[in-house]
Amino acid sequence: MRIVVLTGSGVSAESGVATFRDRNGVWAKYDWRRAATPEGFAADPAFVHAFYNERRRALPAVRPNAAHYALAKLEKELAARGGSLTLVTQNVDDLHERAGSKNLIHMHGELMKARCGACYSVHPWKDELSIETRCPVCDHAGAMRPHVVWFGEIPMALDAIYEAVTSADLFAAIGTSGAVYPAAGLVGEARAMNIPCTELNLEPSENAWLFTDSRYGPATKIVPRWVEETLNGA
Ligand code: APR
Repeated sequence: MRIVVLTGSGVSAESGVATFRDRNGVWAKYDWRRAATPEGFAADPAFVHAFYNERRRALPAVRPNAAHYALAKLEKELAARGGSLTLVTQNVDDLHERAGSKNLIHMHGELMKARCGACYSVHPWKDELSIETRCPVCDHAGAMRPHVVWFGEIPMALDAIYEAVTSADLFAAIGTSGAVYPAAGLVGEARAMNIPCTELNLEPSENAWLFTDSRYGPATKIVPRWVEETLNGA
């Protein structure tokens, strides 16, 4: 059985990472136009660096939760049975990999990496970024940016994602509001191929009507249960 799972910020919420569009979400405190667009970065790079520096600084103390671990187990068990799990995440945190997921696509990039806007080299990055940071490869100063996808930019690895989704036996979306495309459009791509689609979320997402099955509740409760059910049926 080939399964594709799309995760959003709801899967990390119980680890203490803020979601985006909930009442206390990131975009209730920050203007996404200033913090997460190429135009915002061009206008005030110091503000954008401070926004991501704060998140990068907080991440090492955050721990994966039962939902992340259940998805790592699903990958391992499916592989042992000749199947596969492709985990596509919109999250820029590293909690899926720390829980043990391997076949993982970060479609919105990674907080713990930085990229040079001059030579496009990508680097693991634990430290603060600033407008003075030099690129370790080309030594250009002032062009380093977080290796994340901003609004108006094209998400990463879209070809691999569409290929995996349209050839899957099952698609599931976990902890995402379905507000941001193209991620939110993946359920439609799967449905167009007659692939069953399961939604696991705290509440119905904006795309809830497109799913053929849905489970509502906190990810740490409903994801491990769904993984066991799926493995029992696989
Ligand atoms: N368990 C399951 N779902 C949860 C939980 C939880 N404990 N807590 C919140 N949720 C759900 C919310 O009900 C909501 O539907 O997670 C969803 C989070 O939605 P958003 O805040 O919109 O986050 P996400 O879908 O990941 O956003 C997509 O938007 O700002 C951009 O690039 C950013 O990747 C992000 C993208």
